[in-house]
Amino acid sequence: MSKRLGILISGRGSNLLAIADAIAHHRLDAEIAVVISNRPDAPGIIAAQERGLYALTMPSKSLDREAYDRQLTDELHKNRVDLVCLAGYMRILSGHFIREFHRRILNIHPSLLPAFPGLDAQHQALEHGVKFSGCTVHFVEEGLDSGPIVSQAVVPVLAGDTAESLSARILKEEHRIYPEAIGLVLSGQYRIEGRRVIAK
Ligand code: GRF
Repeated sequence: MSKRLGILISGRGSNLLAIADAIAHHRLDAEIAVVISNRPDAPGIIAAQERGLYALTMPSKSLDREAYDRQLTDELHKNRVDLVCLAGYMRILSGHFIREFHRRILNIHPSLLPAFPGLDAQHQALEHGVKFSGCTVHFVEEGLDSGPIVSQAVVPVLAGDTAESLSARILKEEHRIYPEAIGLVLSGQYRIEGRRVIAK
């Protein structure tokens, strides 16, 4: 039976749709059990519903972090989620949530971590003057954009790039590596040694 994904979003949802596409085209053996947005106006929720996915909003604004994350945990358990995938989820998770889903939470970040964690990673990369940037899929641990790295892809930074043009180049790679990384984690064909994720 296919493993069940819970996808958390806050915005556009293009990574969510890339995962849905990979499943539809049999590149990824998984099922999207639930999509949850913490922001009621997230365009990704409408896009998910149009795809026939079970998608709901659970507004987090002004809620205590741990209380909100307990609601989130309940909803994910109710939907028998095996792996939580953060896809543009713009809220820090509580320690409670991270322990509850230990080594079962992935995130995608638009830089080559550990460079440029946090917000506006593409802008940070441009400002720093790096010649290459990219994206990273990693396990989520306490600590911003930390946790063992499952997969990365590199893209060049070109003369004349803006944050928008660099973001678009990186996003294309995000859509490729996120479904692949989810597939690897769901297969269980890896081990973790220290910080290193080693595919078997
Ligand atoms: C992506 O760039 C992702 O790396 C970052 O947030 C953005 C989400 O985009 N964490 P989308 O909502 O998946 O289109």
